[in-house]
Amino acid sequence: MRNTLGYVLFFTLLGLTASLAQQKTPPTKLVFPAKNGNITFDHTAHAKREKNDCKVCHPSPFAQDAKAPLKFRPPHKSDEDAKSSCGSCHRAGGSAFETKGNCANGKCHVRAAATKK
Ligand code: HEC
Ligand code: HEC
Repeated sequence: MRNTLGYVLFFTLLGLTASLAQQKTPPTKLVFPAKNGNITFDHTAHAKREKNDCKVCHPSPFAQDAKAPLKFRPPHKSDEDAKSSCGSCHRAGGSAFETKGNCANGKCHVRAAATKK
């Protein structure tokens, strides 16, 4: 009897924790490092464009964790064809610009300005 109560309590708490986890404060901007120039992901703008519907991106294709791997590796074409990760939107015929032709025109990979001394 005591055990049953313990289990009920445990799973109630687990459920509560899970629902709280879904309401984590969203980041404003995330920077993803890359050798050919870091990418600044404007999380606020991305969420806003999806009418703040977090479910468009969480938990799939992205974990709510900036340290989780993005799985959007070069050559990006394969992820775009698979409509996975960023390529679920950023692809030819998708809701956002494809990577081709947009590597370094200021949209994605931006090299840090050389620091003058
Ligand atoms: C267009 C896609 C998109 C939408 C919509 C979106 N997110 Fe995210 N979010 C991301 C990506 C990408 C990451 C980084 C994932 C990674 O690095 O693996 C992220 C990360 C996060 C993180 C982790 C931040 C950290 O510092 O670890 C939180 C919290 C989060 N999002 C909350 C939200 C909430 C709340 C909403 C709804 C208001 C939302 N997100 C909507 C794409 C999105
Ligand atoms: C739910 C669809 C969706 C996903 C997923 C998504 N984006 Fe976007 N992204 C957009 C839209 C829509 C725009 C603005 C329209 C355009 O410029 O084509 C945009 C614009 C951008 C921009 C230009 C700056 C800005 O925010 O306006 C960058 C950089 C960018 N996205 C990077 C990424 C990266 C990196 C990922 C994966 C971590 C990603 N996006 C995932 C829809 C998405």
